[in-house]
Amino acid sequence: MRILNQKGLTIAVDGYSSCGKSTFAKEIAGKLNYKYIDSGAMYRAITLLCIRKNIISGETINKKALELLLSAADIDFRFTETRNRHETFLNGKNVEDEIRTTGVSDYVSQISEIGQVREKMVNIQRRYGKDGGIVMDGRDIGTVVFPEADLKIFMIARAEVRAERRYKELQGKGVDADFEAVKKNIEKRDYIDANRKISPLKKATDAIVLDNSNITVQEQMEWFEELLRELNYEN
Ligand code: DC
Repeated sequence: MRILNQKGLTIAVDGYSSCGKSTFAKEIAGKLNYKYIDSGAMYRAITLLCIRKNIISGETINKKALELLLSAADIDFRFTETRNRHETFLNGKNVEDEIRTTGVSDYVSQISEIGQVREKMVNIQRRYGKDGGIVMDGRDIGTVVFPEADLKIFMIARAEVRAERRYKELQGKGVDADFEAVKKNIEKRDYIDANRKISPLKKATDAIVLDNSNITVQEQMEWFEELLRELNYEN
């Protein structure tokens, strides 16, 4: 039996947009009592900053202004008592709700393609992971951020199913969304994320695939528990 070392495992969860990565990653972090980091929230926070500072114009981004913004940007996750969860803070202010808006979703893949953005985010992410005992979800966690991760899970789900989930999530938040527009945004982000030059979304060769198109969160957890048993990890 492999006993989890004192530091705990480093677990990478990657996959396409709206695959249910964060729900699954949060659940397994809770089960193992590990830290959970949503790396997409960090790219969203930088995108929000770019929108606020007006440095995006169509397909063009003012790189000089971006460099200045990045050097001063401070992103972290803090526990919010009213919501009983960790939320994303940008330069000391809670931006959890704002980073989930469609305005940010429309530009986030474009901002995430930029090398200087990725460099800064990856450095912060590695700092979070230095002591192990972490579950991080994103696009390049198993390939770039933690290539030596103990466990890599690559999540997939059919595009229709993902669009439906995202649409329902927006509706639940009272956002007046259009299903076709939501689906288009997901497909566009999939394309940019998987085809960008730096750190594209791809399955790490040693990642285990989890297709959750037709399974519930509880079934995903049963799958995970079985996986830990197969790998001989003792919680
Ligand atoms: O996980 P999410 O949908 O909230 O992520 C938003 C965007 O951030 C996604 O379209 C691509 C980018 N991203 C990335 O490039 N690398 C990561 N590790 C996480 C997210």
